[in-house]
Amino acid sequence: MSGFSLKRLALTILIALLACSSSFQACSARKAMYTRQLKTIGKGYDGYNYQDPKLMDEGNGVTPLKNTGSSTFNVLHFGAKGDGKADDTKAFEAAWAAACQVRGSTMMVPSGSVFLVKPITFSGPNCEPNIVFQLDGKIIAPRSSSAWGSGFYQWLDFSKLQGITIRGKGTIDGQGSIWWNDSTDESESETPTAGDSLYSSKQDSISGELSAKMPSTKPTALRFYGSSVVTVTGITIQNSPQTHLKFDDCTGVQVSGVTVSSPGDSPNTDGIHLQNSQNVVIYSTNLACGDDCVSIQTGCSNIFVHNVNCGPGHGISIGGLGRDNTKACVKNVTVRDITMQDTMTGVRIKTWQGGSGSVSGVMFSNIQVSRVKTPIMIDQFYCDKSRCQNETKAVAVSDINYVNIRGTYTVNPVHFACSDSLPCSGVTLTTIQLKPAQEVSQSNGPFCWETYGQLKTNTIPPIDCLQRGKPSKNQLHSNGDSC
Ligand SMILES: *[C@@H]1O[C@H](CO)[C@@H](O)[C@H](O)[C@H]1NC(C)=O
Ligand SMILES: *[C@@H]1O[C@H](CO)[C@@H](O)[C@H](O)[C@H]1NC(C)=O
Ligand SMILES: *[C@@H]1O[C@H](CO)[C@@H](O)[C@H](O)[C@H]1NC(C)=O
Repeated sequence: MSGFSLKRLALTILIALLACSSSFQACSARKAMYTRQLKTIGKGYDGYNYQDPKLMDEGNGVTPLKNTGSSTFNVLHFGAKGDGKADDTKAFEAAWAAACQVRGSTMMVPSGSVFLVKPITFSGPNCEPNIVFQLDGKIIAPRSSSAWGSGFYQWLDFSKLQGITIRGKGTIDGQGSIWWNDSTDESESETPTAGDSLYSSKQDSISGELSAKMPSTKPTALRFYGSSVVTVTGITIQNSPQTHLKFDDCTGVQVSGVTVSSPGDSPNTDGIHLQNSQNVVIYSTNLACGDDCVSIQTGCSNIFVHNVNCGPGHGISIGGLGRDNTKACVKNVTVRDITMQDTMTGVRIKTWQGGSGSVSGVMFSNIQVSRVKTPIMIDQFYCDKSRCQNETKAVAVSDINYVNIRGTYTVNPVHFACSDSLPCSGVTLTTIQLKPAQEVSQSNGPFCWETYGQLKTNTIPPIDCLQRGKPSKNQLHSNGDSC
């Protein structure tokens, strides 16, 4: 595949020579430019004969764009069928391998076709920067259990890239329904930090016998790992077996104009999951799913989520942090200008008992909720197993601000359950107006446990349970390891 860029250049030179033969000066200038490009890009491909007419004739996805120096690699020109039935994985791999060689190139998944693609890694450590994955068609995941072997943590995986953009009006469809109906072991719901490993370590011995059974590890539909300057815009991601869009160990992430869609009862289908990632902005995005619309996990800082609609789903959550006595650090998160309908929680912070580290510097503002069970929640006793041990260690929660949270709830407006040994501190509430939804006959009032802070305005309903000032037994550093 390494020769495609050279072929593209050869073609371009040919076209340029023909096109500008009337102007000798311009022509020689362009020729000089192309020669320079050829030298740069051709590095490492010595011996390739870019004049080989056989290769020139292949129509192999090389679309010269005049004078821009960029290249487009269309999967259809690499053998993809795009009929939704044939396995197009190899064609995607080949198109990627070609695009990878050219700085600022475009890998094109054209509209009007449906591409069946098996788990695949668009791996980047040796790729040129600033590749665009132009998605205008539809990519679907295989539904046969054999395609998934003993399980993958992700389906479409972009790894170790500098400057990667997925854009277009296309769709990524995880065809998750066959995974959702299998009974779920809840402890599976949070995948470990998978790092770069693609395969699950877990063998599902039963899947060999029952051919229709999917492996117990459910894949994330689209993941970015270890990458910087990542943009996802325009596309739709739907029906993921598990999380729809995940960023792990990334910096400089921008998500906009994205639609996530899966049923409200599809298990563990987070919308967007952030982990160990910094400088992330998510905006103008519509998230409907069966778990957290946005989930912000350990190692995240400088996160800005705005103009997002969420519902159905479990709301926008920081955590669960500190699971299995781990240290978790999250700071500087702003969530503003959000609408939510029929979600389980609104804006939530959840931490496991026994963890350490901290979450601090959080602003939730201009959140409009409709029929949300519990719009405002901090839960330092988070536990998604049937039973969790009581522990004294906890992830510290401080400097958490709620401004202008309005609308209707169906269970209770505010639920703050903080640790006895490490109370929440610096919780401020400003302009809160939460009323029971019309259809609710009986609702509960605000609940607080070991929660310290300040009401900056009157609130509806009155939140009398918040304790003024700071915890007397301020143990903010008693958990040993600050972030
Ligand atoms: C999964 O369950 C839903 C709801 O019961 C049903 O509509 C759907 O057909 C099931 N899917 C499969 C693949 O069994
Ligand atoms: C907090 O994050 C925002 C992005 O949401 C960033 O602009 C700002 O500089 C960060 N603040 C600090 C103190 O790092
Ligand atoms: C943990 O503590 C709470 C409150 O003190 C108590 O109700 C609960 O039974 C305890 N759980 C366990 C597993 O010990």
